[in-house]
Parts: sequence; C-alpha cells; structure tokens
Amino acid sequence: MAASAVNQKPIPPVQSFDPETFDLLNVPAGYTADPYPYLAALRTESPVHRNPDGTYVLTRYDDITAVYRDPATWSSDKTADFAPKFGPGAPLYEHHTTSVVFIDPPDHTCIRALFQHAFTRRALEALRPRIETLVDAHLDRFEDAGEMDVVEDFAFKLPIEVVCDMLGVPAQDRLLLRGWALAILTALEPKLTQDQLDAGNRAVTEFKTYLKDLLTHRRAHPETASETEVLTVLADAEADGQKLSETELLHQCIFMLNAGHETSTNMLSHGVHEMLRHPDQIARLRADPGLIEPMVEEVLRYQAPIQINNRRSTRATTLGGTDLPAGTTVHMIIAAANRDPDAFPDADRFDIARRPNRHLSFGLGIHICAGNALARLEGAIAFQRLFARFPNLTLKSPAKMANRLRFREIEELRVAAR
Ligand code: HEM
Repeated sequence: MAASAVNQKPIPPVQSFDPETFDLLNVPAGYTADPYPYLAALRTESPVHRNPDGTYVLTRYDDITAVYRDPATWSSDKTADFAPKFGPGAPLYEHHTTSVVFIDPPDHTCIRALFQHAFTRRALEALRPRIETLVDAHLDRFEDAGEMDVVEDFAFKLPIEVVCDMLGVPAQDRLLLRGWALAILTALEPKLTQDQLDAGNRAVTEFKTYLKDLLTHRRAHPETASETEVLTVLADAEADGQKLSETELLHQCIFMLNAGHETSTNMLSHGVHEMLRHPDQIARLRADPGLIEPMVEEVLRYQAPIQINNRRSTRATTLGGTDLPAGTTVHMIIAAANRDPDAFPDADRFDIARRPNRHLSFGLGIHICAGNALARLEGAIAFQRLFARFPNLTLKSPAKMANRLRFREIEELRVAAR
C-alpha cells in the first residue's frame, strides 16, 4: 500500500486544537495518526462545522443518520463536485460519476438491483468454503515463517482473492488491480497533486481496457467461468427490462473490485491491531468464540475503514439547527459518528461484546454497502481462525499508519506467531 507514511514533524498537542479553525483540506499534523480526539472536539464544539471552502463537516451521529435517510434532499450525485476536481471528460470523472455509489434514483435503483444478483444468500454461502480455504492457506504460511506483515500477507490478499474470484479475474493479474485501485481511490482524497490525478486517470483507462478484454474472453469461453463468478451475471442481468450499457457495466465492475478489497483489507488489519492492543479482548474471544460476530462489528465501529462519506443538498434545509442552502456539500465523518457518546455508551472503549452496535461503517439508507454481508463473513472467518490458531500472537513493531483521510489504512503491521 503505497501511500506515504505519517509526517514525522513534532505534533502540537490536541489540547491546543481550536475546532472553530478546523479545515478538512488542511488537517492538524496529528490528525491522520489519531483523528478521534480532534473529531470529539469538533462534535462537541462545532458539530455542523463550516469548512473554510464553504462545505460542511458533520460529526454527530444523529445529523449524519438524518442525511443518509433523506436521499431526496441529500444527493450522492457527484457531477457538480467532480467536474472542477477532475475536469469533465476525464476518465476519473467518468468513473466517479457513473459508479453505483455516486448516482441517485431512479438510475441508482436499477443498478443497485443488478448488484443484488451478485450478493444473494446463495452466492455468499458458495463463497464460504473458498474463504475458509484461503484463510487457512495464509495461516499455514504464517506458521511456517513464524512472522508476517498482517497487511501484506493476510489482510490485503484475502479480500482481493475473494472479489477477483467473484469477477473471474485470473490470479496472475491481481497485482495489477491493486495499483489501479489505489490510484482510483486516492483520487477521492480531499486534496490531490497533479501526479495523483494523472495516475488516477491512467488507472481508470487501463482498468476499463482490461475488463473489456476479460468480458470478451469470458463470453467466448463461458466454460472458464467459476461457480461463483458474477462478471457475466452482471453483464447479462436486466433491471426494469434494461441491461447496463458497456461503459456502465465496466465502471460498476471497477467499483466493485475497488470497494471489495481496500475497505476489507483495512477492517482485517485494524481488527488484528486492536485485538493485540487489547489482550483482555483476545482472552474474552477465546473463552467465548460466540463473540466473533459482535467482535467484527466492534472493529468496524472503532476504526471505520471508510471514515468519510459525502452528500450535496438538492434544496435549502436545516441540519442540527444550522440553515444550509441548496448545493451545500457535507462531509459525513463516519469515524466521529461511531464514537458519539450519545449513540454509544463509553464510546472510546473497545468492547467486542458491545450490543447493540449500530455503527455507520457500511453507511445507511439506499446506498448502504451492498457487500456488507461478504465483508462481515470475511472478517468472522479470518479473525476466528487467526486467534484460535495463534494464541500467542505478538506485535513486532508499532503499526505504520498511512497518511490518508478518507480511508483509514494501516500500511504495515508486523506480528510474530509465538
Ligand atoms: C469492511 C469492508 C467494507 C466497508 C467498510 C464498506 C463501506 C461502504 C460504505 C460506507 C458504503 C456507502 C457509501 C455511501 O453511502 O456513500 C459502501 C457502498 C458499497 N459497497 Fe462497501 N464496504 C465494504 C466492503 C465491500 C465489499 C466486500 C463489497 C463488494 C465486494 C462492497 C461493495 C459496495 C457497493 C457495491 C456499494 C455501493 C452501494 C450503493 O451505492 O447502493 N463493499 N460500502
């Protein structure tokens, strides 16, 4: 994962942070290493915060859920935001304004229905033995080596293998995808360099060409498709009697490949990290393996892999007592909502038995993550097998955090088996 490591300059103490001056495009030096104290101050003192660029930063659970629940007022369409950012006609613009997550009904309703073909209960159950086999193979290698980088050797490999299996991407091409995904998703960060823009545009073009060839090949040789493959299912599925155009199809596949691994990778890395930082919770899980599902939820709540979602108002509205005009862009800080003490008692405590746990890490409402059941399944299988098999797992060096805002990413997490 190639993002640069956290800046090593001295970091001013969070106590000297004035929430009124917060700027999401220029966050305080310590923010990416540990955003939560900054978010807590914002939530208390400036919960509907006007960013210097005129957008708003939301940190309260109730305000964020209100936005998710009202898609008529709060649009996911990104054409207005991304035209100046990427330039209309740029490959990044085409991708990020076509994929299912960044469009509104009625188009969203049709495309979302197609995704349901890929995520039926039957499709998911068919993936379970494959996920178990993959996890065990990675853990065998860990046992032989005695140590591993959790990110590189486990958390990255498992989700990309699963989502590539689903789309029928051959094993030897999976590393290519990793670079493309990183470039395309990095382009969603609030601030970009020209090099990042260029890399993102190149990645979309190359990814589209790659998938087009794959689809052509799959259609010519349907016998090469695996039992769980969804590429041709998506291509041939119809919603309201309509098929996706080829451009729409390719962008949905790119989105699914990207959404399906980057986020799950971060969930797995953070899960291992938080458990190692809280050995009492490892002991609890060992004593009661039935806690595996609430544990996955708590990892997702505590370190939201996607920290920020966005919406834009289609009309004048009021949020948390603040009047907002039509055309206002809001940054919904999921990471802050997930630690809101009004929604989660003792919100900064990592508690694998927490119930209820209505975190917002998969979003909410019509765009709620289509792959959430798959991500949860991957998490449950991976954590259950790792902690059952390696009771003496230890951290070899402090986790290396990436310098990104939207995706909460660990770059390196070295552990030993004994
Ligand atoms: C821990 C892992 C994951 C997290 C934290 C996550 C998070 C999210 C979030 C927050 C959204 C909503 C975005 C919004 O409302 O603007 C979303 C949407 C989506 N996710 Fe995930 N996701 C994860 C895994 C996956 C996987 C494994 C897949 C597929 C293989 C996937 C596919 C999708 C799709 C297709 C959407 C768009 C749904 C729509 O717009 O209707 N995600 N995800």
